Amino acid sequence: RDELLFSYKGILYPVTFCSPDVFRAMETLEVRSDDIILAGYPKTGTNWLGQILNDLVAIFEKKIQNKESSMNDEEQEFPYLEIGDAGKYERMNKLPSRRILFTHLLPENLPRSIFKNKAKILLLIRNPKDVATSFYYFSNGMSPLPSYETWDDFFIAFMTKKMPWGCYFEYLSKWNKYADDENVMTITYEELKENPVLGVKNIAAFFGISLTEKELQDVVERSSFQSMKKNSQKTHGTFGNVFFRKGGVSDWKNLFTEDQNEKMDKAFEERVGGTKLGIKLKYEVYCK
Ligand code: A3P
Repeated sequence: RDELLFSYKGILYPVTFCSPDVFRAMETLEVRSDDIILAGYPKTGTNWLGQILNDLVAIFEKKIQNKESSMNDEEQEFPYLEIGDAGKYERMNKLPSRRILFTHLLPENLPRSIFKNKAKILLLIRNPKDVATSFYYFSNGMSPLPSYETWDDFFIAFMTKKMPWGCYFEYLSKWNKYADDENVMTITYEELKENPVLGVKNIAAFFGISLTEKELQDVVERSSFQSMKKNSQKTHGTFGNVFFRKGGVSDWKNLFTEDQNEKMDKAFEERVGGTKLGIKLKYEVYCK
């Protein structure tokens, strides 16, 4: 288990995806004010938001620059900021706008130019019980990540900061300091699930992308769980089923014991209860 992860600045990462060299090289990325940053802890629905953002940017480019898309196959880079080789930032500096960058990192570990150049950040959060549930199945389905014999083993690791990309409560409390920043928009998995039309509309407006009613409907339809799952072999290869599992709310109820509920409720209350992000998560509605 330990060989699969390494520690950098006190946080664990999978060796297959990240490296200290990549983290060091990341500072050379020149972030632009029109870059679109998607920040989300693993399993909060980042692939879902990625689909929405890709579609929005394609619509934007078609309208503004009157072209199909400025990205061609050679120009594309794997969108997760911290995943890849150390040379990726030099290549990314040459990519045309608007670039979409995904990241699971804590704000303090992001390139400073994100904040200096005032790039807009969409912060995605999800109720912690469903994040843990989703992460458990994902860990056991992805060979580069440590797997767990039982849910109980996983729960202990999740609660004791042994996760790749660190502890979700720490993630929420660190990002909470940015929640009032005018360049940061927060959206929850649950609100997007409940009203995807409104969610997509708000995201588009935040990034200054105008949409016709038809375009809005198309983006929503193409990003539905059913559409993305159907397409997943093409987009995610053999890991399609691992990324698009249930796509719902409250699956945690099938795993958590009374004792685990109590432990997580207590940790949530202590770490993020009463903060802006904590309130936005509607813990009483989704985790009780
Ligand atoms: P579940 O494991 O609860 O099903 P990420 O993309 O950050 O890895 O998050 C994965 C989670 O988002 C999975 O949750 C996955 O099913 C869910 N998901 C992916 N696409 C979705 C969509 N279009 N609508 C709703 N949920 C989606």
